[in-house]
Amino acid sequence: MLIKGGRIIDPAQELDGVFDLGITNGVIDRIAEHLEPHAGEEIIDATNCVVAPGFIDMHVHLREPGFPEKETIATGAAAAVAGGFTAVACMPNTNPAIDSPQIVQQILTIAGNAKLARVYPVAAITRARAGAEELDYAALQAAGAVAFSDDGNTVMNAGVLRSAALAAGNVSGCFISHCEDEHIKLDAVMHLGAASEKLGLPGSPAVAEDIIVARDLQIAKNTEKAWHIAHLSTKGSVSLMDWSRSQGVIATCEVAPHHLLFIDESIAELGSRAKVNPPLRERDDAAALRNAVRESKIDVFATDHAPHTAEEKSADISTAAVGFTGLEIAVGAYALAIPDLPLRRFIELLSTNPARVLGVPGGTLKLGTVGDVTIFADRKWIVESGKFYSKGKATPFEAMNLPRRAIATIVGGELKMHEGRVLQ
Ligand code: DOR
Repeated sequence: MLIKGGRIIDPAQELDGVFDLGITNGVIDRIAEHLEPHAGEEIIDATNCVVAPGFIDMHVHLREPGFPEKETIATGAAAAVAGGFTAVACMPNTNPAIDSPQIVQQILTIAGNAKLARVYPVAAITRARAGAEELDYAALQAAGAVAFSDDGNTVMNAGVLRSAALAAGNVSGCFISHCEDEHIKLDAVMHLGAASEKLGLPGSPAVAEDIIVARDLQIAKNTEKAWHIAHLSTKGSVSLMDWSRSQGVIATCEVAPHHLLFIDESIAELGSRAKVNPPLRERDDAAALRNAVRESKIDVFATDHAPHTAEEKSADISTAAVGFTGLEIAVGAYALAIPDLPLRRFIELLSTNPARVLGVPGGTLKLGTVGDVTIFADRKWIVESGKFYSKGKATPFEAMNLPRRAIATIVGGELKMHEGRVLQ
């Protein structure tokens, strides 16, 4: 494949300029100002587009095994390439949970057959994600797990978490924390503040997150385990992350687009569509997160793609399912949230850094690396969830005008999405 005439930006090799890029046998093998195609080579015109190392979403829920009515690995992988992602890491809150090498392998087999995005399983930290029993982390990693998390839940017992981190000390995959103290959160359906009081709904305060971020970063320091904090939503988390790193803690963190763009007040208008864990916070939390992105205090842009059925999301906010689909809006939503973010930084957050955090191929266009490429452009479009490849149609971004979109997704040198159409 020859990608012609695009602006190639690859932060890993300080590259930014208009070049052609060639991929042969799934590997990037040529970058130059003008390349002639090999005989029979597929040509992709990238004029007026940016050509970037493939985007990697390190936080998605693909629902298989267990909940195919919400999403399958195949529909989730289609949504990934539709949104410009060449790879995703899928969280273990499936049924059964991803807590055995067999389930890790099962997911890899199904994803391989789907032949769309690369799928990297994140295995659980505790058996059945029940927060009590450690797992064999080396065996899970040998089967293909790239990281460990009980995401969806917090490991509430600090002793269990510390002991698990020590047991996983010889395994390279990081621990990923979902930070919400269940004893503070209780039955909350949104953030606790003026908006929840006005709506008369039970809320969870920001301290429910901050307390676990502080705790887990201390466990990271104490155990020297590589750590990643998922979906920061509070200004307190940003400060705690920053301070911990200044104290030598080896940790990274991510944000999700909804926490940058929506606030607790949005619930009055959006209702169940905007119900998510951790919840949408206050105006100054969202502003602190956006500033943290600008100041390079956030490492990764993730989506927390969490599809549910239409019935589950149309219920009253007290009982509606928590979370919403994100893969197909992320590129545009991030551009909308921080329009002044330099493209180089945008690409670091979506590709260079998640590849490094997970230790997976890609994240660069260096010669000899996998031919995973995302082509995108600053073209306006309107979100129509009915057109999503994901089974999950509920999104707070419905009908919004977004300023950027993925134009083509190339995985291992094969075109998987072009101009919004997924190529099976
Ligand atoms: O809103 C959420 N939904 N947050 C999570 O952490 C889990 C997710 C889900 O699996 O639905």
